[in-house]
Amino acid sequence: MRKKVTVVGGGNVGASCAVNLALKELGDVVLVDVVEGIPQGKGLDMLQMGPIEGYDVAITGANDYEATANSDVVVITAGLARKPGMSRDDLLLANYAVVKSVTENVAKHSPHAILVLVTNPLDAMCWTALHVSKFPKHRVIGMAGVLDSARFRTFIAAELNVSVENVTAVVLGGHGDTMVPVVRLSNVSGIPLTELIAKDKLDAIVTRTANGGAEIVKHLKTGSAYYAPSAAAVEMVESILKDKKKILPCSVYLEGEYGIKGVFVGVPVKLGAKGIEKIYEIQLTGDESAALNKSAGAVQELVDVIKSKM
Ligand code: 2OP
Repeated sequence: MRKKVTVVGGGNVGASCAVNLALKELGDVVLVDVVEGIPQGKGLDMLQMGPIEGYDVAITGANDYEATANSDVVVITAGLARKPGMSRDDLLLANYAVVKSVTENVAKHSPHAILVLVTNPLDAMCWTALHVSKFPKHRVIGMAGVLDSARFRTFIAAELNVSVENVTAVVLGGHGDTMVPVVRLSNVSGIPLTELIAKDKLDAIVTRTANGGAEIVKHLKTGSAYYAPSAAAVEMVESILKDKKKILPCSVYLEGEYGIKGVFVGVPVKLGAKGIEKIYEIQLTGDESAALNKSAGAVQELVDVIKSKM
């Protein structure tokens, strides 16, 4: 029996997710959006790509959640995207309402699903999904670190003119301006970055990584990135559905790890059939730890705003 993956949100990120899921034949895909016709039309279009690409999965579009029943994984991308000049945090209350309503529906129809959140501001939306679904914390996971570290890897590989495949890069913290690219733990085939790139250039790469989403919003003007974000979410879904047990940086609910409690932030985790199967606690330096705490504090502030409006 095939696995079933629901993607909520038929915009650029959601539709790209659905296509990538089909191309990898990870399971039957249901695309949900509130706009009548959009998920149906995009779903049918993707289905007709099957004979060309050679995938055998069902892809359906829907405006409600009946068709999503008993999904194994639900990727939540619904919500507003940024416009130039906006931070992810500016989307907080509008997207809180969206994610709350989506999560209620998802939890009702797929009570055993693993949720992969993509909607921004990511870490606060993960908190919302955890709170609303009442799912155990290992089944609510945010996509951020895979994307942020992919950006870091891209810039490092370009600077050194080497394969992206040789670059390992670590980004911790919230998916916002305070994210923490960790130079000390990043390397190229085991060679420390500090031995390959001068400090001023490394600092510029770190800053560009932290502003990676905004750089794309500035180009696009009408929305935010979607190719890399959707590929990142699908890498997570693949690790879950194939029980690959990849170690990936994901936004997860911490309960004391890294000295952080009651908040979602990005840290390395093992992703397998059960969702988050292990949280890895890396020994951090004082500066790295302070930066991670600052980032967790920024996420906590957003959650506090949500709590004050509930
Ligand atoms: C980004 O960083 C959409 O948050 C996403 O591009």
